[in-house]
Amino acid sequence: MGKDVIIALDFAGMDDTVAFLSQFKDEKPFVKVGMELFYAEGPSAVHKLREMGHKIFLDLKLHDIPNTVKKAMRVLSSLDVDMCNLHAAGTRAMMEAAVEGLTRPDGTRPILLAVTQLTSTDEERMRQELLIPHTVAEVVESYAANAKSAGVDGVVCSPLEAKIVKAACGKDFYTVTPGIRFADGELGDQKRVTTPAAAREFSDYIVVGRPITAAKDPVAAYRRCVNEFCG
Ligand code: C5P
Repeated sequence: MGKDVIIALDFAGMDDTVAFLSQFKDEKPFVKVGMELFYAEGPSAVHKLREMGHKIFLDLKLHDIPNTVKKAMRVLSSLDVDMCNLHAAGTRAMMEAAVEGLTRPDGTRPILLAVTQLTSTDEERMRQELLIPHTVAEVVESYAANAKSAGVDGVVCSPLEAKIVKAACGKDFYTVTPGIRFADGELGDQKRVTTPAAAREFSDYIVVGRPITAAKDPVAAYRRCVNEFCG
């Protein structure tokens, strides 16, 4: 399983995105297209990034009834992305339907990841609003096990929870972790963070946004991430 750094392209449109990526002359970073860029530009954003030679994580976090998710995943499977995702909270039936919809007639499909518990939801909100009387660690472990049993390939989780997921689901079950900051960097709105080097042991991919996109020298920041994370 190859480790890699995924840059979160949290831009409002393709003009900003292409301008940002044009700074990379010697490497083709793996990129993440989220809701903002996808809702603004649609599938053409994915086609353009593919043409430019990038690997793509399409981060749309699907969560609906199984039949709707299955059909939506069927559409996404034709977009030729490398990774996409859904919410594990949609239940095992929804995740099984997603795997079915995403699988192409030739049996291939993108890597499918499940979001366990958003890092913006703390234990207090989980208990008070979602009425889940467990610890975040218990929920992440249980949701990851559900995802694995539904045929999903891995989870998106906090780097601080990746160890629990690997212990519960095995080393081949992917852990993709946002919430990465350099030791000397700013936190922004992220609360539970770790450095690329510290994420190395239990994360297969790290997702990095502002520490690269808002850096004075994004290419140098990207290289620093790769060096610290991939070694
Ligand atoms: O700028 P920053 O490095 O915080 O960006 C992290 C990226 O990872 C953003 O695109 C954010 O939406 C995404 N993400 C996250 N926490 C999650 C899931 C996704 O920060 N639990």
